[in-house]
Amino acid sequence: MSEATPNLEELDRHLAEKWISGIWRIPASACPGDSKTKIQPHLWKWADIHDGLAMEYVNPLTGGSTLPTLSCWIQLLKAGQRTQSHRHTSTVLYRAFRGRGTTVIDGQEFHWEQGDNFVVPLWHWHEHANTSASDEAILFSMNDAPVLKPFGLYREETRRSQLGL
Ligand SMILES: [Fe+2]
Repeated sequence: MSEATPNLEELDRHLAEKWISGIWRIPASACPGDSKTKIQPHLWKWADIHDGLAMEYVNPLTGGSTLPTLSCWIQLLKAGQRTQSHRHTSTVLYRAFRGRGTTVIDGQEFHWEQGDNFVVPLWHWHEHANTSASDEAILFSMNDAPVLKPFGLYREETRRSQLGL
């Protein structure tokens, strides 16, 4: 087509005669990133994270898990802080973002430090401890609980510490 700037209706008619369709004719609902998806880019600010608490990154569109199949969490452990022993049917991948500590999984100790990754398999008793007397430790984690919950397969329970932590 040689015209400099055809209007869109004329261009559509011309292309239709050639059995061509412009990308602008694809419905927005068929495009990734359109307004109907439950995922959108989002930035959670570090300044909004609070000491000593485990916090979930919530999907701003749904108010639910971070992604439809993954839930992301951040946990700040104060110096010397220990969590309660517990287990759940979700599997969790951890990233030691800062500090050092120990995670006990079914009685086995895993000593981690910044940059380390570890997995807590489903239904294994576990607890975390910041082993520093002066520095905070930060664990980032992702779990598959969003996949389990719709089927009623998610459970969790707590118990006394494995190591008297
Ligand atoms: Fe856990």
